[in-house]
Order: sequence, then structure tokens, then C-alpha cells
Amino acid sequence: MSNPSLLILPGDGIGPEVMTEVRKVIDWYGTKRDMAFDVSEDLVGGSAYDAHGTPLTDATMAKAQEVDAVLLGAVGGPKYDALDFSVKPERGLLRLRKEMDLFANLRPAQCFDALADFSSLKRDVVAGLDIVIVRELTSGIYFGEPRGIIEDGNERVGINTQRYTESEIDRVARNAFELAMRRNRKLCSMEKANVMESGVLWREVVTEVGKDYPEVELSHMYADAGAMQLCRWPKQFDVIVTDNLFGDLLSDAAAMLTGSLGMLPSASLGAPMANGRPKALYEPVHGSAPDIAGQGKANPIACILSFAMALRYSFDAGDEATRLEQAVEKVLADGLRTADLLGEEGAQPVSTAEMGDAIVAALDASL
Ligand code: IPM
Ligand code: MG
Repeated sequence: MSNPSLLILPGDGIGPEVMTEVRKVIDWYGTKRDMAFDVSEDLVGGSAYDAHGTPLTDATMAKAQEVDAVLLGAVGGPKYDALDFSVKPERGLLRLRKEMDLFANLRPAQCFDALADFSSLKRDVVAGLDIVIVRELTSGIYFGEPRGIIEDGNERVGINTQRYTESEIDRVARNAFELAMRRNRKLCSMEKANVMESGVLWREVVTEVGKDYPEVELSHMYADAGAMQLCRWPKQFDVIVTDNLFGDLLSDAAAMLTGSLGMLPSASLGAPMANGRPKALYEPVHGSAPDIAGQGKANPIACILSFAMALRYSFDAGDEATRLEQAVEKVLADGLRTADLLGEEGAQPVSTAEMGDAIVAALDASL
């Protein structure tokens, strides 16, 4: 049998340097756990634009469709701000999501005990927090037509369209219910049914799907109130399901509850492939952080934890995912901190590479 295949797209900014640390972890699994992957690497985002004049070539797109999983670093940077919208780095990522049809984006927000004091909220509000936002990723206002900037009389008008079909809501809702079933059987759906028709439909369809999951306690919240509740008492939630734009905003807010954006992984999942596993792309929630790129300051944990999600969801290796998550927990408990996690005065940060090496050492110690 051939090895499982993994396409690595480091991207821009800190993407390549955090991915270097993930490669160490992947190599560790190959040599120490007899789990070799066929790894190929390619360009996405600004780096692809620099090389090919497009943020994602058709060849890379085709490769992404064939592999068992894609692991992406980050895209974007000020260098590309002036580019035409159609070739901006972000378009590369959006094309991957859309053409691979990765409609369910799982964004866990988990507060590591060692970092609970690092949150901008009080320790008792965040300690032990473990929630997942399921964000619809391939529709809504990100992709709805019509869109554009048009002339209307003597001024220009910017247009984007929020559009959801019943089937698009149905499939992401089912995904969220399935996840809730594997967790604490509690799901909160967020929209703006008070002002948006798409929100009214969203609530109706989620409620309908909920009849197939009577064990799950379903609640609904307007997304603005949801944002407020996330800051007030986030532990009231377990799984949250929401649309593309609200999910983008709420997941950044949820991420910050945990202390640092540098900690959080994500999985973007599509329909099952022939082997029964979902088409999948894994990426950290953080961006390309161009201000610190190339300085060895970036935190590789979010990207490493994204690989842990790949082990769990694409490679049937939940135990190995847990091993990796525990290795991360251990280095944090040991006091290792990259610059983004430093509060105390006089504390010395470790570099991106030192953090990666420490996690590999913790993996070794786990054997
Ligand atoms: C995210 C990012 C992306 C998004 C950008 C980079 C296109 O903010 O993954 O949350 O808006 O979806
Ligand atoms: Mg975002």
C-alpha cells in the first residue's frame, strides 16, 4: 500500500518558517512511528504570484484535489496590497476552499492551562475552555453573486451578496451536529434572523436538521449577541455553527480568548472521498504576520496543531493526534514561550526552531 499523501503549501510571511517546524514533526512520525507520508511542496499566495503571476496555478490546484490532505501555512502581505483583486494572495486560498468544496471549517478554541493568565479575560472565564466553531466556508457573502464595484450615476457602489441555499445550510449543520454528538451534545447556531432573510432560512434549516439529532441540545443566537456571550462566558458553548462571514469574525474573537492567535489550528473539510475520508485542508487560524516574518519569532504551535488535526481527521490516527497535542501541552507547561506568549517582564522567548525542537523532544519522551 502506498503512503498517505500530503501537499504542503507554506505560502507567505511566517508560513514557511512555521512549516519548517511542522516538517520536523512529520519526519518524526515517519522515523519513530512508522507513519511515512508522501510529502510534496508547492507555492500558494504571494509566493506563487511572484513565481507564476497567479496566487495558485492550475497544476497546484490539481495536485490539491488528488492528495489525502493539504497543509497550508499562511497567505498575504503588504507587498501585494496594490495587486488587482483577482490575483491577490487570498484568492489562492479561497480558490482552494471553493474548488475542493471544503464547506465545513472547524476552528477549535482551546485554552491551554499554562496560558490561562495570558488571555485578556480573567483566568476563571477562560481556564479549561474547549469549544469548536464550525464555520460554513464555501458560500455566503464571500462568494455570492452579484458582486463588484459598479458605476451608479455619478458615484461607485460596492456590492456583495449574502446567499445561502437550503442544501448548503443543511450539510454544514449536519457536520456540526455530528461533531456535537462526539462531544458534549450541545450546539448553538448563530445568524442574524432578525435582519437577514438568509438568517431566517439558516435558522429554519438548522432546526429541521436538528430533528435528526434529538440527543443534541440545540440553541439559536443572533450573531452579535453571540459575540457578546463569547466574551462574557465562553464556557457556556460547546459547538457553534455559523455562516462564512460571522464565522470569520467570531473565530478570531474566540481565538483571542485563549491567549494567542499563534496557538489555534483549523480543519476545512469537504465531502468524503473514495477512501471514506473527507477532502481536507488544514491551516493555522493566524495570518502571515509579515511584520515578524523571517526573524525566527513566529509561534509554530498553531501549524503543528493543524497537523495534529490532519492525523485525527484524515489519517485515522486520533491517538497520535492526542500524543502531539500532549507534547505541545508539555512544552508549554515546562515554561517554553515564543515571543507572542510572553507577558512577564524579563522572560526570554524561544525561537520558532527552538519551539519546534522542544515539541519533537517531547514526542520522543512520550515513547
Ligand atoms: C481566515 C482568513 C481568510 C478569510 C482570508 C485570509 C481570506 O481571515 O481564514 O479566517 O477571510 O477567510
Ligand atoms: Mg479570518
